[in-house]
Amino acid sequence: MSSPPRPDSSPDAPRRPVTLTKLGEKRALGEPIVMVTAYDHPSAKVAEAAGVDVVLVGDSAANNVLGYTDTVPVTVEELLMLAAAVRRGLRTPLLVGDLPFGSYEASDEQAIGTAHRFVKEAGCDAVKVEGSAERARAIVRAGVPVMGHVGLTPQTATALGGYRAQGRTAERARAVLDEALALQEAGCFAIVFEAIPADVTDVIMGEMEIPVIGIGAGASTDGQVLVLHDLLGIHAGFQPKFVKRYADVRGEMLRGLEAYAEDVRTRAFPGPQHAYGIAPEELTRLKQQLPVPADEVRWVGRRQRA
Ligand code: KIV
Repeated sequence: MSSPPRPDSSPDAPRRPVTLTKLGEKRALGEPIVMVTAYDHPSAKVAEAAGVDVVLVGDSAANNVLGYTDTVPVTVEELLMLAAAVRRGLRTPLLVGDLPFGSYEASDEQAIGTAHRFVKEAGCDAVKVEGSAERARAIVRAGVPVMGHVGLTPQTATALGGYRAQGRTAERARAVLDEALALQEAGCFAIVFEAIPADVTDVIMGEMEIPVIGIGAGASTDGQVLVLHDLLGIHAGFQPKFVKRYADVRGEMLRGLEAYAEDVRTRAFPGPQHAYGIAPEELTRLKQQLPVPADEVRWVGRRQRA
C-alpha cells in the first residue's frame, strides 16, 4: 500500500500560509510567533519575504502613515484601503485588520457588519478588537476569527489615564486578567497584551489557553508584535520604552533624498544612461521641421533662443 503524499519539508519548499491552527501549534511547541504591522503594499512584500507569521493592519496607521496624532480618528474606509493594499502583497502571513474606534462598540450588528467588510472588501483573514469581549463573541459567531487586545488599548487611552503601562496594582492586574479571560472565553483565537509589567504577564500566562502576542509585556508571551515604523526607524517621533530599533530607515531615506536634491541642483542627474535615444536620421528630420533652425538654438541651462 502506498503511503499518502507528505508535505514538502525541504528548505526550498514554498512556505505554507499561516493558519489559526498553525499559530496554536507554534504556541504548543514553544515556537515564538512573529507579528508586525504593515500599512502598504511594499511593506507587506517585505514582511512576506522576511517570513513573519502575522501581519496586522493596525489602527496605528492613524499616526504612522495618515498624520493623525492618535488612533481615534482613523475611519473604516481608510483602514480598508490600506488593508487591501497589504493583502495584495501577502501570500503566507495571516492578515489581521484592526477594527477602528467607533466601528464595533455600539452593537453586535455594527461589529459584525464592520468585521465582514474587512474580510470581504480587504481580504483580511481575521480582525482585532480592543477589549469588548461581547462584540468579539458576536463577530466569532458570525464566522470571522477575532484577535483580542488588552492592557494599554490606545483607542481608550484617555479613560486608562493616558499612554502608560497597565496592571501595575494587584486590582488593575486582576482587571487585565479578567478581560483577557473574557476574550478567550468569547472565542478569540489569540490576544495581544500591550504595556503590562512582565511579572504580571508571567502570572496571566498561566491562565491562558490561546496564543498571546506581547508588545511591552515581557518575554513570556507566545510571540511579539512591534509597529513596523518603530522597529525600522521610519519616523523620528517618540519611541515607547518597549521598542527596539533594528534599522534607521528614516536616516537612509533622508540621505537618499538629500543626495538626489543635490544631483538635480548641480545637474549631475540625469546622466546619459538615464536618457532615451532616437535614431540620428529621425532627429535630423525633426530638426528640419523646426520653425527656428536647430543650430540657431542655444542651450544655457534652460532652452533659450539665440
Ligand atoms: O494598531 C496597532 O499597531 C496595534 C499593535 C500595537 C498591536 O494594535
